[in-house]
Amino acid sequence: MSGKKPVIVVRDLYVNFYTYAGVVKAIDGVSFDALEGETFCLVGETGCGKTVTSRAITRLIQSPGRIERGEVLYYSRDGRVINLLELSDEELRRIRGKEIAYIFQDPAAALDPLYTIGHQIGETMIEHKTVKDWKEAFMKAVHVLKTVLMPDPERRVKTYPHELSGGMKQRSVIGIGLSNQPRVIIADEPTSYLDVTIQAQIMALLRKLKKERNMTIILITHNMGLVAEMCDRVAVMYAGNIVELGPMRRIFENPIHPYTRALLRAVPNPLTKIERLESIPGIVPNLIEPPPGCRFHPRCPHAIEKCKKEKPPAVEVEPGHYIACWLISGKVGGEGG
Ligand SMILES: Nc1ncnc2c1ncn2[C@@H]1O[C@H](COP(=O)(O)OP(=O)(O)OP(=O)(O)O)[C@@H](O)[C@H]1O
Ligand SMILES: [Mg+2]
Repeated sequence: MSGKKPVIVVRDLYVNFYTYAGVVKAIDGVSFDALEGETFCLVGETGCGKTVTSRAITRLIQSPGRIERGEVLYYSRDGRVINLLELSDEELRRIRGKEIAYIFQDPAAALDPLYTIGHQIGETMIEHKTVKDWKEAFMKAVHVLKTVLMPDPERRVKTYPHELSGGMKQRSVIGIGLSNQPRVIIADEPTSYLDVTIQAQIMALLRKLKKERNMTIILITHNMGLVAEMCDRVAVMYAGNIVELGPMRRIFENPIHPYTRALLRAVPNPLTKIERLESIPGIVPNLIEPPPGCRFHPRCPHAIEKCKKEKPPAVEVEPGHYIACWLISGKVGGEGG
């Protein structure tokens, strides 16, 4: 891939939720790399594991969830390779919010109603000692609000979350995320609560920051228009697995996994503009008792016996384009990344 260096490397990640109804096998061996200065997208239907995967990266999985195994490596600015899953809470806190920022799906829930926006932006800078005192923190908070194109930032820095519109709340949340100039931003549906104009502005902002700061963005969305507009590479998830991963254009132009093909037929394709939509037959499986073998096999029109028994490995079908499907690996032959 164009010689870019990895910043976040996820290897063989498994996450379960221990519920009264049983163990939900939510993430089932997910692996991917996010590279320096790229936007990497996780896409897929609701419940496929996008949020859980992204939260597991910085260990934000709460009880009854548990990361069962796997590695999440972070390549720090000073050239260290750190397994985030093995750090002490203290060491992790030093990285989270400073080098890796997480923007939550729901901006209202991410803001504390009791503190002003300026305080909340300042707090992360104070915590990570990127400012010397509160005076500097408030000054920088105004600057951060300018960066996220908040109207009238000098006034807004002193306001409370309930005084802000949805778009302004989201800008504040992104501002908190950006306050320490992180290397990686993980954004979970950062614009799902916003109307399309604000969404476009926020996305333009993220693109600009990514370019200026060579930031890595891990973007979670089910909006294919956003994927086409924002992403360099895409991972398509289904029921806790990555079924296809590759350069954004190739995923749209040459989707190979039967699920990706079905998914792209079910949403307007922003590149080909074909709008004859078909829904995907069948339902998303129950992850307490997931289907054996390939989790997509009960809905796959091409499934063979092997698909019902063995989990397909990911194989590289063209440079940087990986598919986990027995129909494909049968043809390509080898095992791959
Ligand atoms: N607290 C929890 N308890 C039990 N199961 C959970 C919990 N949180 C997530 N899950 C399960 O983990 C799986 C993945 O959920 P996740 O939230 O990652 O989906 P998603 O792809 O982000 O969906 P959406 O597009 O709706 O945000 C789902 O099957 C979900 O039911
Ligand atoms: Mg989600």
